[in-house]
Amino acid sequence: MQLFDVYPIQDITIQKALGSTVWDDKGQEYLDLYGGHAVISIGHTHPHWVNRIETQLHQIAFYSNSIRIPIQQELATKLGKVSGKEDYQLFLCNSGAEANENALKLASFHTGRKKVIAFSKAFHGRTSLAVAVTDNKNYVAPVNETDNVIFLPFNDEQALEDCFKKQGDEIAAVIIEGIQGVGGIRIAEDNFLRQIRSCCTKYGAVYIADSVQCGYGRSGHFFSHDFAGVNADIYSMAKGMGNGFPVAGILIAPHIQPKHFQLGTTFGGNHLACAAALGVLEVIENENLLANAAKIGTYLQKELQSIQAIEHVRGRGLMIGFDVPAVLSELKKKLLWEEHIFTGEAKPNVIRLLPSLALTQADATRFINAVKKLSSVSNS
Ligand SMILES: Cc1ncc(COP(=O)(O)O)c(C=O)c1O
Repeated sequence: MQLFDVYPIQDITIQKALGSTVWDDKGQEYLDLYGGHAVISIGHTHPHWVNRIETQLHQIAFYSNSIRIPIQQELATKLGKVSGKEDYQLFLCNSGAEANENALKLASFHTGRKKVIAFSKAFHGRTSLAVAVTDNKNYVAPVNETDNVIFLPFNDEQALEDCFKKQGDEIAAVIIEGIQGVGGIRIAEDNFLRQIRSCCTKYGAVYIADSVQCGYGRSGHFFSHDFAGVNADIYSMAKGMGNGFPVAGILIAPHIQPKHFQLGTTFGGNHLACAAALGVLEVIENENLLANAAKIGTYLQKELQSIQAIEHVRGRGLMIGFDVPAVLSELKKKLLWEEHIFTGEAKPNVIRLLPSLALTQADATRFINAVKKLSSVSNS
């Protein structure tokens, strides 16, 4: 049997990883500023996280949600404390798309309405509702097409206000990334998020903060939406939550009431996933990783801004993007093959940095020196 070939891949086999370093099968070492697509939050194979999972594995790995699973409440309590959303409720699932799918479904159940507002260049996942609110025709199969989604221009306050004035009583939810990832590191403006909050409150719609990529401390705040100083009704989380162990969830504001059987999943919230997620939060707390993300992110942005050859350096914390001009179109490839540094990208010409929140200043400097070196020589 062959693998279903949907992923264009780099010809590299990673065999070992620790912190922000990975090694291939030939022993070559690389600096990882991509974090397996923003997943590695506390650093690869962090010993505390490994120990948490290992200890749990010897006790019980899985049982269904039909019995008491106290480690779920332990996780909810810790997550409330670290995120500052102590009065929210937690529903656990397995992936970012599933988190958004449940957030949208819950908003529709809660309001009894069907329409959802999403924004240009948004990416919310591949399952049916999540992909319907994703602004990329290539991912939307004919069966996913729906009239229930209204796409508005990102950060356009007038368009949002006009839409709510026209059909506010039909809107179940507004879904927005705090910083668009796949869309090319585009920050949702604080005023825009405040306006979403006030429209949702006024018209009885649910504000969903997709924090799958920009959340979990990546921006320097636990949720990047928090920069706006207003609360969302639902936060979706995934990538950094398990540091590579598949675990995801939604935080739900207290005014949204649960009903038995309205949401559900077999694997969501299993013992092993909760142990991994707790391990992550304990390290985030003990090692002050939010402060580190803010500090190293500021340093990286300042240094990048001083490099003339690259353009539009932007982002928050350790979610940073910059535009690569045509003359340096080989930069990402050269970073990987000549300097042995993994970075992310967003089409057509954005380099995206999504490293571990524990990235050191020395590793950040190694990257800056590599960009300086490669951008001072031509493509050839
Ligand atoms: C903002 C955002 N939402 C949702 C998703 C979907 O997450 P998953 O791939 O875990 O389903 C992603 C994945 O890249 C994402 O970046």
